[in-house]
Amino acid sequence: MQAIVQEQFGPPDALSLREIDRPSPNDDQVLLRIRAASVNPYDWHMMRAKPYLMRLFGVGLRRPKNKILGADVTGVVEAVGANVTTSQPGDEVFGGCTGSFADYVCVRESSLAPRPEGVSSEHAATLYMAGITALQGLRKGQIQAGHKVLVNGASGGVGTFAVQIAKAMGAEVTGVCSAKNVELVRSIGADHAIDYAHENYTKGEHSYDLILDLVSTQSLLANRRVLAPDGVYVSAGSLEMGNWISPLTQVFKVMLTSLFGRRKMVPFLAKMDRDDLIILGDLVDSGDLTPVIDRTYPLADVPEAIRYLEQGHVAGKVVITVADNRESS
Ligand SMILES: NC(=O)c1ccc[n+]([C@@H]2O[C@H](COP(=O)([O-])OP(=O)(O)OC[C@H]3O[C@@H](n4cnc5c(N)ncnc54)[C@H](OP(=O)(O)O)[C@@H]3O)[C@@H](O)[C@H]2O)c1
Repeated sequence: MQAIVQEQFGPPDALSLREIDRPSPNDDQVLLRIRAASVNPYDWHMMRAKPYLMRLFGVGLRRPKNKILGADVTGVVEAVGANVTTSQPGDEVFGGCTGSFADYVCVRESSLAPRPEGVSSEHAATLYMAGITALQGLRKGQIQAGHKVLVNGASGGVGTFAVQIAKAMGAEVTGVCSAKNVELVRSIGADHAIDYAHENYTKGEHSYDLILDLVSTQSLLANRRVLAPDGVYVSAGSLEMGNWISPLTQVFKVMLTSLFGRRKMVPFLAKMDRDDLIILGDLVDSGDLTPVIDRTYPLADVPEAIRYLEQGHVAGKVVITVADNRESS
């Protein structure tokens, strides 16, 4: 089979398309023939192993432990291990894995959900990391109908899901993005869109019941100033990615700020959850959620796709389609 393989940490040039052996599922795994994948900032962090702290947590000290990147996947079940009960060969599924930039991958059955008939492979391939982060991030912020919700980073992979899910939950949504994406953010349901180059949302008169912050471009104190008295600030991501331990320092800063004052400030990390995958699949199937796809690349162009994502200005998701030319591999 073909796969995008990484022997060393580094820039996208460190990735190459190779012919490798097809994996075999263990008793608890499903072998998937991949139809599509999508790219997340997580992939380029894994590719570069930055911040370096990641190297102490299973990524590999000097070389990648997992040589194939890609966490979001859609595919068809090719074979199942002896203990697998929820999938059988021929099932169309989607979810999360390690190594979706390839023709085949082995996945735990608990990381997969059935792909509804009305959901395309490309759409399903966007849902795992970005969709789950948006859904769980909004829940972490205790979203309720009628809440005023602000999404900072509204035009990216997570943001385009968060805007739509918050609207579907009955919130009044403000999205912060660049001028070129203001129309996009409005078109997916935001009641208000703020161009960050022209307006600083922390300096306005409005306050918010929930701020889902995906880019951390304003200080924590400034965010706290525009939280409603019972509001919640959810810190989910940052543009600033230092070489060493920056995610941890952000977590500590958020926890420290939350010690003073009534308004809640919480760090947030999404968790794989099969039930949430099912919810997201159903939302897309019912038309309440439409993944925004910025660009689609073939498997061989994964390095180009990651290069594009790393520039930090995608509008929605970047999808990888995996060609159907591997029956004999
Ligand atoms: N906590 C978790 O569990 C979790 C899970 C997944 C992802 N994340 C993190 O969440 C963040 C977002 O992920 P993603 O997949 O949405 O990334 P993405 O698809 O690369 O989107 C990044 C977005 O940031 C926006 N942006 C750039 N500068 C901005 C600014 N000054 N103000 C507001 N927005 C700005 C860009 O919009 P414009 O083009 O309009 O500038 C772009 O759409 C990343 O840091 C990622 O690592 C966290």
